[in-house]
Amino acid sequence: MHPQFPIQYQFPLQSLNTFGIAASAHAYLRVTKTEQLLGVFADAAWVSLPKLVLGGGSNLLLTKDFPGLVLHIALQGREVLASDEHHHYVRAAAGENWHEFVQWTLAQGLGGLENLSLIPGTVGAVPIQNIGAYGLETKDVFHSVTVFDPATSSTRTMDAAACRFGYRDSIFKQDDGRHLIIVDVCFALPKQWQPNLRYAELAQALAEQGIATPSAQQVADTVIAIRRRKLPDPAVIGNAGSFFKNPVVTGAQCAALLERFPTLVHHAQPDGSEKLAAGWLIDQCGWKGRTMGAAGVYPKQALVLVNNGGAQGADVVALARAIQADVQARYGVLLEPEPVFI
Ligand code: EPU
Repeated sequence: MHPQFPIQYQFPLQSLNTFGIAASAHAYLRVTKTEQLLGVFADAAWVSLPKLVLGGGSNLLLTKDFPGLVLHIALQGREVLASDEHHHYVRAAAGENWHEFVQWTLAQGLGGLENLSLIPGTVGAVPIQNIGAYGLETKDVFHSVTVFDPATSSTRTMDAAACRFGYRDSIFKQDDGRHLIIVDVCFALPKQWQPNLRYAELAQALAEQGIATPSAQQVADTVIAIRRRKLPDPAVIGNAGSFFKNPVVTGAQCAALLERFPTLVHHAQPDGSEKLAAGWLIDQCGWKGRTMGAAGVYPKQALVLVNNGGAQGADVVALARAIQADVQARYGVLLEPEPVFI
């Protein structure tokens, strides 16, 4: 075994994906230094194999054994870099646990990330998905990202414009950016911090506690409580968070749907389109709490598919297809999965 690349073969991935699906990788490398990436892509034996870059495995559905090399990004490190008139800049390596990093920024007295508390996964996955929750998206607090480009075997920095962020989307999910490997991420946190209480459920939960002017930590604690109440803990029940994106339809489509379904949950977007609540659509089709084999729909949030124990990727895919077909038949809307299928 090469000392720089302690590659392991037929490596089990069950504990490395939050769905808890049993599958294996032909080869596996835990990447703890950026130089290891240089080495892998300079080595003819590895260049030609398919690669899977793995972080916390929280946005992944394994439908089969992976025939190539899994690069498990375990790069560690976090620091407060500098500040200017408006921002504090904090950076974390891609392999850091996201929630622990958020908590660490709060312990440094830096607010800005608290609405994204308790989201499973690693820092490196955060810009890929432009993760968002409770009124905040990554792009709102993002400064830049360092990427390793296997095509040039070099690292470079990309700013927010270069990342082309969209709803649960970025260049890292597109053909011209999928090959890039995120090494670290830098966030710009506001010096003049104000609580972000745009999300009605969050504002209401704080009001119910009698908190009128919450601290960043109080916002974090409340987000954590809401998430614990509604979403399954992947350590207890396998899942990958929201399984589908909330679909975006035209204003006209939404108006036509509202005529037939007056209680349709929808949110107007700045460009005139409307975002529908996929959880509501699935729930209305009667799927909440239903199971198909070992895969199921979480009883408290219909947007989350779960592994009730021993599910294969194919079980989850079959359930997802059945849900898509029902929602399409009733509402004429195609639900797009959020996790990456392997
Ligand atoms: N709803 C139902 N039944 C359900 C689930 C939801 O009627 O079973 C209704 C709710 O009553 C509400 C609406 O649908 O009116 C929206 O539900 P919720 O507030 O729970 O949020 P969501 O749209 O289902 C999104 C994100 C979550 C994020 C929350 C909070 C997506 C795909 N999901 O869920 O993100 O935590 O908002 O901001 O955008 C994730 O991406 O993995 C994720 C968990």
